[in-house]
Amino acid sequence: MKMTNIIIILGIVSVPVSSVTVNVSSTDLVEFNSSVSLSCSSSGSSLSFLWLNRSSVFTATDRVQLTDGGRNLTIVNVSRYDQGPFNCRVSNAVRNKTSKAVNLSINYGPGNITLKTSLALEFYVTGSNVNLSCSAVSSPTAQFTWFLNRTKLPDTGPELTLTNIQTSQSGDYSCQAFNTKTLRYQTSQPSPLIVLEHQPLSHGCSGGCIAGIVIAAVVVVDVVILVYFLWIKPDAAARTGGEGQDNTTSPQKQELEYAHISFQNTDGGTVQMGPEDNPTQYAEINAYRPHEPSSMTNL
Ligand SMILES: *[C@@H]1O[C@H](CO)[C@@H](O)[C@H](O)[C@H]1NC(C)=O
Ligand SMILES: *[C@@H]1O[C@H](CO)[C@@H](O)[C@H](O)[C@H]1NC(C)=O
Ligand SMILES: *[C@@H]1O[C@H](CO)[C@@H](O)[C@H](O)[C@H]1NC(C)=O
Ligand SMILES: *[C@@H]1O[C@H](CO)[C@@H](O)[C@H](O)[C@H]1NC(C)=O
Ligand SMILES: *[C@@H]1O[C@H](CO)[C@@H](O)[C@H](O)[C@H]1NC(C)=O
Ligand SMILES: *[C@@H]1O[C@H](CO)[C@@H](O)[C@H](O)[C@H]1NC(C)=O
Ligand SMILES: *[C@@H]1O[C@H](CO)[C@@H](O)[C@H](O)[C@H]1NC(C)=O
Ligand SMILES: *[C@@H]1O[C@H](CO)[C@@H](O)[C@H](O)[C@H]1NC(C)=O
Ligand SMILES: *[C@@H]1O[C@H](CO)[C@@H](O)[C@H](O)[C@H]1NC(C)=O
Ligand SMILES: *[C@@H]1O[C@H](CO)[C@@H](O)[C@H](O)[C@H]1NC(C)=O
Repeated sequence: MKMTNIIIILGIVSVPVSSVTVNVSSTDLVEFNSSVSLSCSSSGSSLSFLWLNRSSVFTATDRVQLTDGGRNLTIVNVSRYDQGPFNCRVSNAVRNKTSKAVNLSINYGPGNITLKTSLALEFYVTGSNVNLSCSAVSSPTAQFTWFLNRTKLPDTGPELTLTNIQTSQSGDYSCQAFNTKTLRYQTSQPSPLIVLEHQPLSHGCSGGCIAGIVIAAVVVVDVVILVYFLWIKPDAAARTGGEGQDNTTSPQKQELEYAHISFQNTDGGTVQMGPEDNPTQYAEINAYRPHEPSSMTNL
């Protein structure tokens, strides 16, 4: 100290820059939550200080404060891009010297969480194997937990392996990333996974069941025909009757008669059909005709 004073008094700057060191308030920082101060010290006389962020020189901004004659650098509200390396460069008239690089460890995330399924499908058959993988931008690496319909599963880790899946495992899968340093979470969009029975649908219906359906269909057709003759035919007859003299030869009336015959036939009667001989077909045609009057005339 005394020696420095003497040199300045004599007006001779002769103490070279040496032992430039940087002291950091903390190197373990949290993005958007931490500020950091770096102070530079050096021996030598008439020193000036300069800070480098990689190779570019720091200037004071709203995020960067330079105090104590430039010895002290403070970065407010650090981001993940502020990891350095940083250097302090000290110079005087004799020479300059640069500190060792200082790196900051900025913890950030998780962000950009992405959930992927191995086949990018939504539907699976029972017994399939499905892998789900989760990723997130995070430092340090995020810890993952899994959810099915918002219920936490016991599984952890970035991969969820589902082997021999069952219909009970259908639902919305999602993953959650946690950063132990930033104490932040992020949860993925739910990914729907639907597990379908392996058997085709008709397998569940036995021969007797199919027979039942056929019988039910026949009964319905009969009821429709019955309704037709009780309610619709009289009206149709009245309509055609009111239309004039050509109604006796109209195809509409012939159709009605065939329907009549077939109805009796399916009921167990012995009425013969004449040249056209499939009673069921006629019953079917006539059962649906009243709902399509325009197509009738095309016959
Ligand atoms: C660095 O900072 C710590 C506390 O922040 C302090 O104890 C230490 O003396 C400083 N070292 C130098 C060289 O300034
Ligand atoms: C820190 O920076 C981020 C993004 O630059 C900003 O959203 C946030 O408000 C800042 N926090 C503080 C305390 O300034
Ligand atoms: C550097 O500056 C910050 C704020 O500007 C202050 O809190 C810190 O104590 C300073 N450090 C030194 C070593 O002067
Ligand atoms: C340091 O430089 C990087 C680019 O190399 C930049 O993204 C970052 O914002 C800079 N940090 C500060 C505090 O200026
Ligand atoms: C720093 O010192 C080196 C030699 O050690 C010299 O080449 C360079 O020009 C100096 N830079 C400044 C800014 O004084
Ligand atoms: C700082 O980081 C750089 C790369 O960004 C690396 O080359 C260097 O060795 C690191 N320095 C320290 C002291 O960790
Ligand atoms: C986020 O993910 C998308 C695509 O998955 C990628 O393009 C983008 O670069 C990622 N962002 C970051 C910050 O990693
Ligand atoms: C799922 O991951 C396991 C390992 O965890 C692997 O053996 C298997 O091949 C993967 N299956 C698919 C469909 O990617
Ligand atoms: C998840 O929710 C869906 C739709 O609400 C439901 O069909 C499914 O059974 C649920 N899965 C579980 C495992 O609770
Ligand atoms: C964020 O900063 C506040 C105030 O400095 C501190 O109490 C909190 O612990 C910090 N959060 C994390 C995750 O470091």
